[in-house]
Amino acid sequence: MNSSPPPTLFPEKFAWGVSTSSYQIEGAWDEADKGLSVWDHFCESEKRMWRGQTGEIACDHYHRYKEDIGYMAQIGVKAYRFSLSWPRLIPNGVGKVSKAGVRFYNALINELLANDIEPWITLFHWDYPYELFRRGGWLNSDSPKWFEEYTRVAVDHFSDRVSKWMTINEPQCFLGLGHFDGLHAPGLKLSMRDCLLAGHHTLLSHGRAVATIRERAKIKPTIGWSPSGSVYRPATNSLNDVNAAREATFAIYPDSLWNTSWWADMVIEGNYPEEGLKAYGKSAPDTCESDRKLISQPIDFYGCNIFQAPSVRMSEDGLPVGVELEPGEPISMYEWTLNPDALYWGPRFFYERYGLPIVITENGCSLLDQVSLDGAIHDVNRKDFLIRNLLALRRAIDDGADVQGYFHWSLLDNLEWQQGYKHRYGLVFVDFKTLDRTLKDSAFAYQEIITTNGECL
Ligand code: NOJ
Repeated sequence: MNSSPPPTLFPEKFAWGVSTSSYQIEGAWDEADKGLSVWDHFCESEKRMWRGQTGEIACDHYHRYKEDIGYMAQIGVKAYRFSLSWPRLIPNGVGKVSKAGVRFYNALINELLANDIEPWITLFHWDYPYELFRRGGWLNSDSPKWFEEYTRVAVDHFSDRVSKWMTINEPQCFLGLGHFDGLHAPGLKLSMRDCLLAGHHTLLSHGRAVATIRERAKIKPTIGWSPSGSVYRPATNSLNDVNAAREATFAIYPDSLWNTSWWADMVIEGNYPEEGLKAYGKSAPDTCESDRKLISQPIDFYGCNIFQAPSVRMSEDGLPVGVELEPGEPISMYEWTLNPDALYWGPRFFYERYGLPIVITENGCSLLDQVSLDGAIHDVNRKDFLIRNLLALRRAIDDGADVQGYFHWSLLDNLEWQQGYKHRYGLVFVDFKTLDRTLKDSAFAYQEIITTNGECL
């Protein structure tokens, strides 16, 4: 008789999903009365994008959403996280609402529901309306009001069928790469002070959006956000190394916006952390009680986008120090480590500090995929990544983290921002010449995992 304990399962009603974002897949950049986004504008300058590639057509999901939902149904996903394009819905960012924009998202939502796939909407995944950018964008103190207006339009049109909402995707990234380093749209290189001010307006926008969704949603909403989950993992399981990894995960560096606690402490606890105020000094924005209250309205889940976790150990003088990649250690095309412990320690650290249910809103890897002679895409390394990461996630659940969903990044190969189509992240391969799609081997593996609620792992 087999005496080994039965495998633990993922929670019942676990949200098995896939994730995308509007600019990365939709294309149809000037369809009907759609307004320009900062990304449409940024792509006009060929030098900024890898080989001059743009999101004008991307995966043409705007015209092929039914086919794409068909792939989701085939994989068996229960949930689909996508973002709305703000300038598709409101061409100038504020004011007149586009009928064509509303029609598109209505059709998308209805088709998802007809296939028993729950829509999870992200309000902002970086394609900011160009017209509002011309008025100062996130630096304008009116920007939170603009965001509130946009949220109201989305909620009024879609909340009769949608209950899952995420406000902002990865503020660290669109501010860090887009407003500080100039590598992403809108291509600015602002001072740290201005970036943190834009960041404060972003967090105020988050707060206003949460309040608006709660107030106006037609069915009871579940609200979260999805910051970058910059996680570190301990080099060994020693208590010292675990403490070093936790400390590194929540540390703040003066010349960088890449951290967790500056953003998350304010959103969850209503305060910028002392360490951050010290690190940023005079660059930190002034805040008042009402701002802090607005930003820290209760939310229902903590979304984490976790792709990797560099290793750290505790030095002899008690400080976290980075551990170099081992020669030959598996890495993605970004040279990010593929070590799955990211999905063990990340949810544990975030749950421990913020106490909210966790949803993995993005996790995936960019690899060199190609169509083999037999016509299939044997992405054995993505399949392996998926399995190892889900095993790690299940261990995190066993060890007490309340994790309620996993969204693989991404459904489709898509525009990887300024890197163009160089990186492939999809479970579904896209031939960018013909726009034909093919399920990769990893999609079939995910299908089995979902069907068995992870029992096959
Ligand atoms: C996180 C971002 O949200 C997504 O847009 C991007 O494609 C992935 N990281 C991979 O870099």
